[in-house]
Amino acid sequence: MNNTQYSIRQHQCINMLREENGQYTIHTNQSPVQDTIIHGDASKALAALPSNSVQCIVTSPPYYQQRDYRDEKQLGQEPTPEQYIANLVVVFSESRRALKQDGLLWLNLGDKYAEGRLLGMPWRVALALVDSGWVLRSDVIWHKPNAMPTSVKNRPTPDHEYIFMFSQEANYYYNADAIREPHITFTEQSRMRGGRNHFGKRGGTPEHGKNQGNSNLHNGRWDQAFHPLGRNKRTVWSIPLSKFPEAHFAVFPEKLVEICILAGSRSKDIILDPFCGSGTTLLVARRLDRHFIGIDCNSEYCLMSQKRLNAVQAEFPFEEEKTGNVN
Ligand SMILES: C[S@@+](CC[C@H](N)C(=O)[O-])C[C@H]1O[C@@H](n2cnc3c(N)ncnc32)[C@H](O)[C@@H]1O
Repeated sequence: MNNTQYSIRQHQCINMLREENGQYTIHTNQSPVQDTIIHGDASKALAALPSNSVQCIVTSPPYYQQRDYRDEKQLGQEPTPEQYIANLVVVFSESRRALKQDGLLWLNLGDKYAEGRLLGMPWRVALALVDSGWVLRSDVIWHKPNAMPTSVKNRPTPDHEYIFMFSQEANYYYNADAIREPHITFTEQSRMRGGRNHFGKRGGTPEHGKNQGNSNLHNGRWDQAFHPLGRNKRTVWSIPLSKFPEAHFAVFPEKLVEICILAGSRSKDIILDPFCGSGTTLLVARRLDRHFIGIDCNSEYCLMSQKRLNAVQAEFPFEEEKTGNVN
């Protein structure tokens, strides 16, 4: 490996957004724009990305009135929910332009209590995005088994957030096989007699024999019950919260991002996170052999992402880094 060139790539990882006559450009020698962190406001940085270039977006914007990210461009501190939602709609409209026609957006959002009332913010944002043209394909409950306890006594303690899966149109790239989960109907503990004997016997399973009349075994359910790679991914994902002590905010668990990227992209595709924070999406993308673009308005967090990425890039160097052909 050519060490000088490798360190050039690392140094160039963060790019500034430049404005000229109201037009935003990113100064990078990467063409297409990829493998970069852009320091700037999400809606403006997105406007500088080429159209139709990103395959998958995985992101978690600041939640409404939750945390101060100490930057004048930050989103999340708007005085009313309506202004917050309107600002997110602008960001995700720009994201749509950068997204390929068959691309996916995975959007994570948490809710908020104000004056004793749950605001329902994730769904308000999701429905506003639908009104702006996105196709909502799935809601996912991210169950957090290690969620913080609360002292409330007059309602349940929240231990979930939402993840919404949006597409631009009815047809989109989705690799169901990459994220299948283990069957549970016919495990060793299963009480359903004869279940495991049906492996590999499509068409021969349902109407006769020990499981006759069992609706679980009808042909239409065969793939669900016996697919060799597991059953189709479900909509409740139980994933513990991750700790990343350097960040003063909740970071994505890598496992969660991994599912979204594996389902929504192929090797070498570009993955975008317009609110990249500590860079979890970017580093999972890199590990999974995808390219990445991260955006954050806070320079400290851009540096944090770069630091984490440099560690990953040493483990998973880009092809040209292995050969030393960095231009
Ligand atoms: C919830 S954190 C993202 C955490 C990230 N998923 C991770 O794993 O580290 C939200 C991020 O959005 C950034 N942010 C807030 N407003 C922004 C804006 N208008 N443009 C770009 N980034 C913004 C914040 O600085 C913060 O880093």
